[in-house]
Amino acid sequence: MEQVNKFSGHAIRATNVVKVFGDKAALKGVDLAIEPGEMVVLLGLSGSGKSTFLRHVDGLETPTSGTLNVLDQDLTTLSGSQMRKLRAKVGFVFQQFELVPSLSALENVLTGALSTLRGPRLGLATYPRRLRVKALETLDQVGLLELAYERADTLSGGQQQRVAIARALMQEPEILLADEPVASLDPESSRIVMSLIREIARERNLTVLCSLHQVDLALSWADRIIGLREGAVVLDTPTAGLGRAEVMEIYGKVAVDTQGHSAASAAPATAVAEPQRAAALAYSGAANS
Ligand SMILES: Nc1ncnc2c1ncn2[C@@H]1O[C@H](COP(=O)(O)OP(=O)(O)OP(=O)(O)O)[C@@H](O)[C@H]1O
Ligand SMILES: [Mg+2]
Repeated sequence: MEQVNKFSGHAIRATNVVKVFGDKAALKGVDLAIEPGEMVVLLGLSGSGKSTFLRHVDGLETPTSGTLNVLDQDLTTLSGSQMRKLRAKVGFVFQQFELVPSLSALENVLTGALSTLRGPRLGLATYPRRLRVKALETLDQVGLLELAYERADTLSGGQQQRVAIARALMQEPEILLADEPVASLDPESSRIVMSLIREIARERNLTVLCSLHQVDLALSWADRIIGLREGAVVLDTPTAGLGRAEVMEIYGKVAVDTQGHSAASAAPATAVAEPQRAAALAYSGAANS
């Protein structure tokens, strides 16, 4: 009989994770624990270590010191093949979608199943029928069935991100990581993408760790917000029932010196997200006046 609960402990547990690049400490002792099925937003300014932490959870970086457990496995002790198995359970969605522009939406989604197949695939017909059916079902779930055969580069940003989510779902992940998935999108597309992530996460009991730098979005979509500042956790709070004072505290801890950090210049593709950022800044400005 298939076991429903595949593991018993935390989905993600970081203990004093330090990451040093050259002479720069990107993570300065991160401690956090995320439970299965939680939707957690990692909030922080540009350079606070969000991407670095997400890359650790996906095994793309190894901690300089400290321990990191993902789905009950200590990443620092895994062999290559154990790491590949674990990575198959972790889906990743990026700010810039990272689709193959010349391929159809459907083929892009199918590439999410490549880790389950031997050898490269060229063209739809080279994928097993059951995977093609599954890819179409997944596209349907993100509301894009009718665009399955359109080239990825003809789709809007919001549609491309939904294709990227469908691609991540093809590997049937237990954890979904998303690194600023809406930073390149307009507010309405951001809302659609965030609600889709939330809906799918609930339905599949996925654990979601999603980085954002907009406090307002984090408050709307997260069960819990973890704030990073200069590589350290400065905030870890559930979002339910937060009063105005707590919300202001969040702005204060993770967003008060946004101008000094110049998030916009570090992430040029975020220009369309400026209205949201401006709104957030106005809000934090109000808090300080
Ligand atoms: N491969 C690397 N080599 C050297 N330094 C790095 C590397 N990756 C990250 N850093 C540094 O680590 C710090 C944290 O970077 P990171 O990309 O994790 O921040 P972030 O919170 O994702 O920022 P952003 O909002 O701009 O995406 C930064 O100072 C960055 O320059
Ligand atoms: Mg980043």
